[in-house]
Amino acid sequence: MSLRNTSNAFGVVTRALHWVTAVLVLLALALGTWIANMEITLSALKYFAYHKTLGSVVLSLVVLRIVWHRVSAPPPPLSHGIPLRDDLARVVHRAFYVLLLAMPISGWVASSASGIDTLIFGRWTLPAIAPVSDTWEEVGFLIHDIIGKVLVAVILLHVGGALFHAVVRCDGTLRRMVSGQSI
Ligand code: HEM
Ligand code: HEM
Repeated sequence: MSLRNTSNAFGVVTRALHWVTAVLVLLALALGTWIANMEITLSALKYFAYHKTLGSVVLSLVVLRIVWHRVSAPPPPLSHGIPLRDDLARVVHRAFYVLLLAMPISGWVASSASGIDTLIFGRWTLPAIAPVSDTWEEVGFLIHDIIGKVLVAVILLHVGGALFHAVVRCDGTLRRMVSGQSI
């Protein structure tokens, strides 16, 4: 069981980062949607803090993943034999990196602009990365909301693709991300 990726297999580090990030992103999406629609009371503020903590962990994991993939490049997607489909898989993977950076950064910008401390893990305050401003706050959360919707669409496309490979094509794509072995 190798920690590093090879030319045709995902190593343990990439697989662990993939699945931990996937779970945290789904939780952040659900919690974010919930807090944006709930009635804000003093006791509900803790859910905002949980969401900000989750989001900042996702940001750290994505940065870690980018650095790790510079150290140990992931294998290319298993070929479909149809160049357009291979390109689509690559575009979806790249889009994830852009969206998973833009999502927490836009949330952090908007939260900084609100003037409220961005507290994570109940004890650390992230530095403000935007001026306190109604416009920055409004535009930041609008961008956060829109990117969230695009992210959900890309996840559906990605999961649909993974299930198509596993159920219809019966190739090793999903197995390769679960156990590291494609056969
Ligand atoms: C990958 C990470 C993240 C995901 C997937 C995510 C997702 C979401 C979603 C889907 C919403 C609901 C948007 C709406 O319906 O208007 C939301 C709201 C929110 N997010 Fe995030 N978020 C992430 C990171 C962050 C970070 C790092 C922060 C702050 C440091 C943050 C702060 C907020 C706040 C304060 C709201 C509530 C906005 C409101 O009251 O309308 N988010 N998030
Ligand atoms: C929800 C959040 C998810 C995100 C952000 C995500 C992101 C990614 C990314 C960026 C890759 C490319 C490899 C890499 O750079 O690490 C990848 C590969 C993969 N993902 Fe996900 N993923 C998610 C959920 C899932 C789920 C739920 C499944 C299974 C149903 C899945 C199955 C796969 C498979 C099989 C691959 C390997 C594709 C290949 O070999 O080309 N992913 N994922």
